[in-house]
Amino acid sequence: MKEIKSQPTIFVIYGATGDLCRRKLAPALYNLFLDGWMPDKFSIIGTGRNALTNEEFKNKLLEGINQFSRNGKASDDKWKIFSEHIFYEAADLNNSDSYQGICNQIALREKEWNEKAYVIHYLAVAPTLFPVIATNIVKNKLIEQKENARIVIEKPFGHDLESAKALNKLLNENYNEEQIYRIDHYLGKETVQNLLAFRFANAILEPLWNRNYIQHVQISVTEELGMEGRGEYYDSSGAMRDMIQNHLLQLLCLIAMEPPNNFIAMEPPNNFNAAEIHSRKVDVLHAMRKFTPEEIRNSVVRGQYAKGWLQGKEVPAYREEKGVKPGSSTETFAAVKFFIDNWRWQGVPFYVRTGKRLHQSSSLISIQFKDLPHFVFPPEAIESWQQNRLIISIQPEMSIRLQVQGKRPGLNMLLNTVDMVFDYKTTYSSYTPEAYETLLLDVMIGDQTLFMRGDQVEAAWELLMPIIHAWMKPSLSFPNYSADSWGPELAEALIAADGFHWFTLPMNGKN
Ligand code: BG6
Repeated sequence: MKEIKSQPTIFVIYGATGDLCRRKLAPALYNLFLDGWMPDKFSIIGTGRNALTNEEFKNKLLEGINQFSRNGKASDDKWKIFSEHIFYEAADLNNSDSYQGICNQIALREKEWNEKAYVIHYLAVAPTLFPVIATNIVKNKLIEQKENARIVIEKPFGHDLESAKALNKLLNENYNEEQIYRIDHYLGKETVQNLLAFRFANAILEPLWNRNYIQHVQISVTEELGMEGRGEYYDSSGAMRDMIQNHLLQLLCLIAMEPPNNFIAMEPPNNFNAAEIHSRKVDVLHAMRKFTPEEIRNSVVRGQYAKGWLQGKEVPAYREEKGVKPGSSTETFAAVKFFIDNWRWQGVPFYVRTGKRLHQSSSLISIQFKDLPHFVFPPEAIESWQQNRLIISIQPEMSIRLQVQGKRPGLNMLLNTVDMVFDYKTTYSSYTPEAYETLLLDVMIGDQTLFMRGDQVEAAWELLMPIIHAWMKPSLSFPNYSADSWGPELAEALIAADGFHWFTLPMNGKN
């Protein structure tokens, strides 16, 4: 079980005046504090280029908490106590000499506590700054006591295989793997963690969880949002790098991995069991079929949104978004058919899709089982027919539903499809922590289970590089889908060619 650590802890947040800190990190740390998960002695030292006073920095964080915390606005008395732990130190993160202020801040806290602190260096900055900050932390001896220091790296981890390898090399030369926490926030989501529980705590699933019973798997993360001010970053990234390389492949690994021998380390920090899970996921990535040019033509679709109407508002085309190059060929939608060449999954297609400005925001996994070997009912008994399907809804609805056939009440034998539903809302009254709360707590207690190991990140890049290279050739057909649609028609064709269709859950009155 996770336990509150009594060790004094300092979070140094690099890029602390940015959006990530305001929207995610500050609310998560505040909620951990409210729920009693922070040690008595803790500090948050924000650092960034801007010259801010402590008060100005605190106000920025408070504004973020008030807007984005799942607990709503901070109460005056709790905020007063929490904010006493917050400090700001301006620094030019490119310049090693500029880190002296951070060293002094840490020394001051340790002097006050009369104890050495665990220092967590959180890089909430643009990826181009990862190498220089990771190096400057070492140069300034901020990570000298290895067992007391950790570094957290946000995604994207690299821009391609080569840069991911270079970053891993730099980190591994200066840090132990146990000190490196590569974040993929999807792994912290409650429903994503539940995939491990659902698969490995239920004996009835295992006999069915293979190519003998499963016909195909779909993983779909669709978003109504467009660029939201991130056009410049996104234009050099695109859906494949931004979502599939990390979040969607992680979900696929959780569905496809073999059972680990153990799950949670009894006494973190003891990452033996984290390594178990990481290794089982890497096995999946290594077994995934490599893409030839012909497979890229047949199994991969890219798209970019045109202008259109969403929720009654006119929204611009991707190429008109702020920060995006006119005539850009960056994809805002990607769909891929993957195969896993191993005993369990041989021949089972895994269809994966993600995109911006789509009709509905939802993250869904659908597992469709094979059809009956023989129908014993006459055709007139069948009102609606759907092969058994397991639908795992990650967000916004948090549920697992199994679609089965049942008899409709009445004097006739009429069959239709019904859902057996496990819904978080009706089953649990307890709160659901935000992904960042789980992940920040895990960094503090030293549990790497929900983070990515270096070889995992590289294996994911390696798999996708042939597609990324093929897509360097501009697409002549962009834009090819309108806002509020389900993406380009070719994505429908990709799955329809095999006799299936993309599954969606009716939500908020939308189908
Ligand atoms: C981020 C991507 O990692 O995940 C964004 O960079 C995307 O483009 C976001 O919108 C989706 O996360 P969530 O938690 O809102 O599904």
